[in-house]
Amino acid sequence: MPRAPLEYNATLIERHDITPRLAVFRVRPDADDYAFVAGQYTVVGLKQSEPRLPEADGEPDAQADADPAKMIRRPYSICSSVHQPEALEFYISLLSGGELTPRLFNLQAGARLFVGPQPRGTLTLERVPADCNVLLVATGTGLGPYVSMLRSHARDFPAQQVGVIQGASYSRDLGYLNELGHYASELPNLHYLPTVSRPEQDPGWQGATGRVQNWISSTDFANRFGFPLEPESTHVFLCGNPGMILETQELLVERGFTLEAKGVEGDLHVEKYW
Ligand SMILES: Cc1cc2nc3c(=O)[nH]c(=O)nc-3n(C[C@H](O)[C@H](O)[C@H](O)COP(=O)(O)OP(=O)(O)OC[C@H]3O[C@@H](n4cnc5c(N)ncnc54)[C@H](O)[C@@H]3O)c2cc1C
Ligand SMILES: NC(=O)c1ccc[n+]([C@@H]2O[C@H](COP(=O)([O-])OP(=O)(O)OC[C@H]3O[C@@H](n4cnc5c(N)ncnc54)[C@H](OP(=O)(O)O)[C@@H]3O)[C@@H](O)[C@H]2O)c1
Repeated sequence: MPRAPLEYNATLIERHDITPRLAVFRVRPDADDYAFVAGQYTVVGLKQSEPRLPEADGEPDAQADADPAKMIRRPYSICSSVHQPEALEFYISLLSGGELTPRLFNLQAGARLFVGPQPRGTLTLERVPADCNVLLVATGTGLGPYVSMLRSHARDFPAQQVGVIQGASYSRDLGYLNELGHYASELPNLHYLPTVSRPEQDPGWQGATGRVQNWISSTDFANRFGFPLEPESTHVFLCGNPGMILETQELLVERGFTLEAKGVEGDLHVEKYW
């Protein structure tokens, strides 16, 4: 029997634009029993017939000719607290030539959309021993899973010391900067380092500069983060740009970290966004 076509099952309740191509979307699922683990993702979908943001690139002909009822679906990390499943938050970057994001960025509060009923993903804290330290490394919107972890477990984080490194090209792309700065000022075991990789084009930025790897390789790491970067006592999470993940992964494997994989226990957990 053919499967019933997917229908919208959620409402966009709020949208906050950080820059014209970076926004936070808050979505209420129709179901009132949505449950997820901090760090997981779900799919978000819109029908092909939804209009694209007028200033986005046009669609390739092959896509433009697709069935207007087709549900375009992509995975997005859930940023909200597990204690507030009634409003799922997503931190999303606009890809001007993409299929879904130009349609998402055209939505206003009140619009209907599709949210996958089943959250997925293993970038979670469940396999971190409580006596370990945790380093959370993100580029771009790869910060999302960590926002959920901090919102869900700020005061009962299941680890000893927690380091967060957030990389972005420009300071305007550092979403959640104030919120994470606030957690770091409140929690003595949380060490937050936002870093800007194109400071020459961002003269107002007074903070850390360089790509995230520079800080991971820094000889001053233990001083800055309050723990040494050693596989015996640390689990590392990497999320976002696949180039960053590949390069950082290599660096950490050289230092004795083990990449977690199906059937392989590891202290290095990764999620590539593309
Ligand atoms: C597990 C998982 C979780 C994800 N969570 C998020 C999230 O929380 N926030 C978020 O913004 N994105 C996230 N993504 C990426 C997201 O699923 C889409 O790929 C992205 O939004 C582009 O969708 P699109 O339909 O507009 O572009 P598409 O039509 O799919 O095409 C875009 C092209 O660009 C590549 N691409 C995808 N994302 C990027 C990017 N950020 N920068 C450069 N190139 C890219 C794709 O490989 C593809 O070739 C996640 C991906 C995965 C696998
Ligand atoms: N940010 C913008 O204003 C902008 C504007 C238009 C289009 N876009 C496009 O939108 C997409 C997403 O952009 P984004 O800025 O959110 O994410 P991104 O391109 O993944 O960049 C986020 C951060 O990751 C860094 N990075 C890239 N490759 C890396 C690697 N191999 N190792 C370590 N760090 C690495 C970037 O450094 P670098 O700065 O050194 O690259 C930046 O600090 C990209 O395709 C981008 O080209 C971005």
